[in-house]
Amino acid sequence: MPLKFFSALFCVIISASVFAQGGAATGGSIGVSFTALPQSSFKDTVGKFGYTALDISARIPLFGSKHQTAGRKKGAHLADSSRHFYETSARLGFGLLPIDIGFLNTTRNFYNSSAGVGVSIGSGKNIFSISANVGVAADGTVLQNNDTRYRFSGSFIVNHISQSGTVFQYGVAFTYAYGRPLPLPVLGMYKRISLGNKWSLSGVLPLSVQVTDHIDSKRQLAFSLRPSGNRFQFANENVFATTSPAVFMQLRQFQLAAVYTYKFSQYFSLGADAGLLFARKLKFTEQDDTKTILSQITIKPGPSFKISLRYSLPHKRPGIPENEAMNNY
Ligand SMILES: *[C@@H]1O[C@H](CO)[C@@H](O)[C@H](O)[C@H]1NC(C)=O
Ligand SMILES: *[C@@H]1O[C@H](CO)[C@@H](O)[C@H](O)[C@H]1NC(C)=O
Ligand SMILES: *[C@@H]1O[C@H](CO)[C@@H](O)[C@H](O)[C@H]1NC(C)=O
Repeated sequence: MPLKFFSALFCVIISASVFAQGGAATGGSIGVSFTALPQSSFKDTVGKFGYTALDISARIPLFGSKHQTAGRKKGAHLADSSRHFYETSARLGFGLLPIDIGFLNTTRNFYNSSAGVGVSIGSGKNIFSISANVGVAADGTVLQNNDTRYRFSGSFIVNHISQSGTVFQYGVAFTYAYGRPLPLPVLGMYKRISLGNKWSLSGVLPLSVQVTDHIDSKRQLAFSLRPSGNRFQFANENVFATTSPAVFMQLRQFQLAAVYTYKFSQYFSLGADAGLLFARKLKFTEQDDTKTILSQITIKPGPSFKISLRYSLPHKRPGIPENEAMNNY
């Protein structure tokens, strides 16, 4: 799969899975997570790759309509045609990643941050989600030298709730990471599958699936397969034979993971992930011509671990009642 397509796909999955994973289309939250990728060896050359990451993100509702849940009862059907609401929100994220890369002698600190706005509009059986984001991902030296490049992304996704409760997602996502827009279709679904309505299945084409066991109203265990990766600006500092002061470092991998989520109080939930990363590639390219590959390294499969804490801002959720198909936690 070409990397350009892969990056865009990754963005699509992030946009589309917000709803499917119970992040819900509405409400505010603040999350902190710590990720560890223990060092894994390169496949065809000496060296290892690994990182730790601290990530802070917030979703802040700005303004929207009120009392749209009036008359709704607990357990009312999700596809309630009386559902009408809108909500605008702001999203902010900041991450710090000290990364160890085999051929460097020191750990390099990479930073990423993003800011965006989103609008959710609920109308009968549809929830429309529109978002626009701007972000940076670069190593500290690039930021200090004011060589930062911004990347833009946006999406328009329709979540259609069918009579049976299955949610179909379709729409389009854009990335402007390479100077020109790259649109990609989004096609996904979320479905409760039998077994006492305890299990749900969600997926986004072409390759992201998740099966969730809704153990009870507080606990949930999910198994997922999805692409993961990122692209950072890397300060060259004579590492590669090019005159460019900064190049792109693209990490591409797939993750098979188990995620346990525990909502331990009304507003707080804790998550623990353990995963296996495979089909891993680390690629360095010129920034202005990503076809010019400076180096490409295969990384052996390895584990990943993550713990996260999330605080949901107290408010009345306009769209989705508690205990419904989309457990908000
Ligand atoms: C920063 O990058 C990491 C690794 O790809 C990712 O998990 C995290 O969500 C990113 N954070 C932000 C704010 O973009
Ligand atoms: C790493 O250290 C070795 C010896 O300690 C040195 O020869 C090499 O040039 C260093 N590499 C970099 C990229 O600094
Ligand atoms: C980067 O920009 C800041 C603020 O504009 C300035 O103080 C700093 O000297 C610049 N750094 C370089 C290396 O140009």
